[in-house]
Amino acid sequence: MPTTAADARTRLRDIYADAHEQTLHPNLLGWPGPPDAAELDFISRVVYDQPGRSLGGCAYLVKELAQLAEIERHLSAVFGIITAQLGADDSALSEGYDLHHALNLFAAEEYIHSDFFYRYVRELAGADIKLADSLFMERLALYEGDDSPYVKLAAMCMAAYVGESVITVFEKRTAHLDPRRERFLTRLLWAHGMDEARHVQVDHVVINHVIPSLTAAERDRAFEIFCATEELNAELGGRFQQLVRDQFGLDHTPGNRAWEVQQELGQVFRRALAESWPPVPVDERLDDTTRALLLDFAGDERVHA
Ligand SMILES: [Fe+2]
Ligand SMILES: [Fe+2]
Repeated sequence: MPTTAADARTRLRDIYADAHEQTLHPNLLGWPGPPDAAELDFISRVVYDQPGRSLGGCAYLVKELAQLAEIERHLSAVFGIITAQLGADDSALSEGYDLHHALNLFAAEEYIHSDFFYRYVRELAGADIKLADSLFMERLALYEGDDSPYVKLAAMCMAAYVGESVITVFEKRTAHLDPRRERFLTRLLWAHGMDEARHVQVDHVVINHVIPSLTAAERDRAFEIFCATEELNAELGGRFQQLVRDQFGLDHTPGNRAWEVQQELGQVFRRALAESWPPVPVDERLDDTTRALLLDFAGDERVHA
């Protein structure tokens, strides 16, 4: 756990030292087009634990991954605001290039993820997936005030960390069910996960170093922005749910194991951040029930390495 600004800067530098080797440009994924029968069967098993429900499985993935793409694009824009504000920051953490470098690359990676998840959901749906109003300006406005860049960084990383922890579990589930990465969904989440492993480590620097260094008033404000971000993201989720219902003509939720596990884990991960002070990495707050759930669902009782 970083305890000084110098330690945190070194940690950020180390996290991104091999980023060029631990990443995959999405053009290299070999996009296969609409899913074939084997891919559809896999999607059904990932989502419902059984074959034959691929339409619902695709609807679920379209809803969740389109929502994720929107949230990733928002993070990129918010990090643009934060890194611009760091120009006026003379605290020890922003000395040198390390913090700027980590946040710029984090933002760039999320922008690319937003691109390839939108591409993927279009292929799953066989149609454009577009929301006329994704609440983007409202979500961005939460970060346009005169709060310190570290308050904004804390809020944004807490919001991202919950989703990044959930998608890490899903990456592990696909790898567990398809260890040779024969299915495109497995390869997509594996490629995404190479970048996400760094994001989670940056989140841990924020959780372990930045958040404990905030004043009481700054902490309150960070949690206020975090909660407001989550509320707008939930409203965004409702809009995608409706869009997907219209597009697919069904409700994917009955009997949807993936959706149930996602809800459960989201609550557990939020509690690790918000229910006690200071917030901790999610693996430090897992109880036996959640560990058993993770082992059964994803073949690993830990969330992060
Ligand atoms: Fe991402
Ligand atoms: Fe991420």
